Amino acid sequence: MLGVFDSGFGGLTVLKELARVLPSYNFAYLGDNARAPYGSRSFESIYRYTLEAVSFLFSINCPLVILACNTASAKALRTIQQKDLPLIAPSNRVLGIIRPMAEEIGNLTKTGHIGILGTEGTITSCSYLIEIAKFWPDLQVEQEPCPMLVPLVEKGLINHPSTEMFVKEYTQKILAKDPRIDTLILACTHYPLLQGIFAKILPENVKIASQAGVIAQKALEYLSKHTEIDSRISKNPSKSGKIRFLTTDSSDFFEKGASFFWEKPIAAEKVFLYSSNDYSHSN
Ligand code: DGL
Repeated sequence: MLGVFDSGFGGLTVLKELARVLPSYNFAYLGDNARAPYGSRSFESIYRYTLEAVSFLFSINCPLVILACNTASAKALRTIQQKDLPLIAPSNRVLGIIRPMAEEIGNLTKTGHIGILGTEGTITSCSYLIEIAKFWPDLQVEQEPCPMLVPLVEKGLINHPSTEMFVKEYTQKILAKDPRIDTLILACTHYPLLQGIFAKILPENVKIASQAGVIAQKALEYLSKHTEIDSRISKNPSKSGKIRFLTTDSSDFFEKGASFFWEKPIAAEKVFLYSSNDYSHSN
């Protein structure tokens, strides 16, 4: 299976695109709903929780795990890739979603001025600024943390007036920092659920860069180049790969909450995450 991880429901927006471009692949989606949101947590907590989730996905036969969470990608990816992976599963891989977006963003802006909206963790890590500067050193980049948006989305308050109020506040703040911004990265996998509100509030000349589409395309390219990993991911020759939905909260909670992100009804399984040393990494 191809493992996809998020702190909660947000990664389902990425999973949907992945399943569309990789229809024969079997997926395991893991949401750490019991401990979401991650956005305002410390580096230590986000790193430890993400490592536990990755280790769990390895243990159920996912040789490749995509962190479909900007916060986990910003705070935990590098350490897991460099420090943990060589020790726990050297032939497995973990990928994040910041670098693929950074690679692409320069192709999407006309003014060369872009804005990043994300959780406090993603914004304070400056990961987007660092990665974008590697590929597009001339771009002008502003960022703004949006701490209220994930809790509102996780609670299903998508059409609540307070959600619109906060979207307005955050977009006004970032556009005041640089009125020439023409492209906004919704750098949190929960925010696509609020795309309608963003579209309503943003001036016409400001476009939203879709993260899920870019990530899925980059994953496809990665798998076609890395056949050693691709050959270890289980697939269904009939082109209708299976998806396992796993959560650290109750299956009932996940099934209800996921309905905002996933059109079809799903059956979720509750799992327990422990320290990475408790899993065996035979794959
Ligand atoms: N959806 C996640 C992201 O892309 C994290 C949200 C959270 O847990 O705060 O950053």
